[in-house]
Order: sequence, then C-alpha cells, then structure tokens
Amino acid sequence: MTHYIGILSGKGGVGKTSTAVNLSAAMCHFGRDVILMDGNLSTPNIGLHLGAPVVPINLHHVLKGKNHITEAMYLHPSGIKIIPAGLSINDLKDVQPEKLKQVLPSLDGLTDVVIIDGAAGLGGEAIALMNAVKDLIIVTNPELPAVADAMKTIKIAEELGKNVRGVVVTKTGEQGDIPLSNLQTLLEKPILAIIPHDKAIRHSLLKKDPVIRTHPKSKSAIAYKKLAAGLIGIEYNEKAQSKFSEFLRDLRFR
Ligand SMILES: Nc1ncnc2c1ncn2[C@@H]1O[C@H](COP(=O)(O)OP(=O)(O)OP(=O)(O)O)[C@@H](O)[C@H]1O
Ligand SMILES: [Mg+2]
Repeated sequence: MTHYIGILSGKGGVGKTSTAVNLSAAMCHFGRDVILMDGNLSTPNIGLHLGAPVVPINLHHVLKGKNHITEAMYLHPSGIKIIPAGLSINDLKDVQPEKLKQVLPSLDGLTDVVIIDGAAGLGGEAIALMNAVKDLIIVTNPELPAVADAMKTIKIAEELGKNVRGVVVTKTGEQGDIPLSNLQTLLEKPILAIIPHDKAIRHSLLKKDPVIRTHPKSKSAIAYKKLAAGLIGIEYNEKAQSKFSEFLRDLRFR
C-alpha cells in the first residue's frame, strides 16, 4: 500500500522542503521506496535542493495533461525518486493545482511512500495539497508567527477531514524559543521531531544532497533519521547505526 504524506506549514521559510527532502532520504536509508514530489507549484524547490533544477518533463506538464506522472520521475543518487515542478514562469500559465488530486492515484502501488512538499501560505496550492492527501505533517519553528500559522493550517486541515499526524519543529535551540511544552499545548498535536538549528543543513544544500548523506552524524541528520524511524515504526539507535555503517565501510575496504 502506498502512503501519501503532505508537508505544510502556513508560514514560509520554516523548513518544509528541508524536512521533505531529509525525511525522504532517511526513509530510503531505512530501506523504504520513496517518491518525493514538489507540490509547491509557484516557487518549487525540490529540484534545487537535489541538483535537478531543470528537467525535460516536470509536474507542471503532468498537471496540464501533457505527460504521465511516471514520465516526470527522476532517480536521485540517494535512492529517492523525485518529481520536480517546473521553475519557469511559463510553466505556471494555466496550471490547475486541484489536478493534483486526480494525478496522485497513478502512483498507487508504485512505491511505499509519497512525500509531497507543500507551498507556504493557505492559498490554492496548499489547499489543493490538503485535498489530495489524507495525512499531513506540519512544520513550524519555535516562534509565535510560525506557530500561529501552523495552528491555522491544522484547523483548516481538520475542517477538511484530514489527519494531521503531528508537528515537526525545526531550527530549534536559539535564544527566545517558545518552550516545547507550550508548543504542544498551543498546537494540540504530537511533536514528531525536534530538528535543531544546524549549519550542516546549509552545507548540504550547497552539495545538493540531503544532510543525512552529507553529514550523517550531524544533529539534524540524526533528528531526521529518528523522525523517519518513528513514522515507519522501527527502533532507532544511533550507536547501532554507526557500528553498522562502519562494518559496511570496512567490508568495502577489505
Ligand atoms: N534545521 C535547520 N537549521 C538551519 N537552517 C535550516 C534548517 N532547516 C532549514 N534551514 C534553512 O532555512 C531556509 C528555509 O528552509 P526551507 O527551504 O526548507 O523552508 P521552506 O519552509 O520549504 O521554505 P518555503 O516556504 O520558501 O518553501 C533554508 O535556507 C534552509 O537551509
Ligand atoms: Mg519550500
């Protein structure tokens, strides 16, 4: 069975794309087959994060009925299959985000998980993503404007009958953070992960590769692996993981 998970936030710039990319990479790391789709149609970022900015066929072509969704799928070296959206302004002409709901079922049975990176705000694109999937993860930062927008997003999603699995709080550990217990009370949803503010994320962006591959031992990489393990329903033990990686590396050098 294929699970579809939409990533939304309300406020922009909180870390949705970083979360979508690294959650996908971490699930691949644990052996799951993952498709990562860019549901941010006006300002898409997945291709930029993963080094595939311009591709011959993208999600916009699919939504316009020109191509089948599998024709817009590309394999990233991390093992994630990505479906980038078009970057050009021309791509935006006549595109209907609501078509997402019609094209997504074509991925049923093709993979274990489809993670869809959403657009900021609560406009047509974000609502189209809510309408297209059942399960959502909300990303926020530990500061009031982001939390207020996350609360609004959760409320609208629930009014539409969606299942908000929980909240990922990113860029934590700065002075003035709202305490996590207060966040939990305000959002009334489980906190699925705390992703610390980490320079490694910026470095991984420069390398166009998920942080769990470029800096596997960084605090953000470990937090993303814990998030993925929790969602998959497996135990995560960093020490055992490191020993396993060392064992594989030693095998390679033998
Ligand atoms: N844990 C983190 N630590 C430090 N920087 C981070 C972290 N997560 C994300 N960032 C940085 O924050 C910026 C915004 O991240 P990202 O693009 O993932 O947010 P977004 O919610 O997808 O933004 P948008 O709403 O514009 O789509 C990027 O420069 C990214 O490198
Ligand atoms: Mg983004």
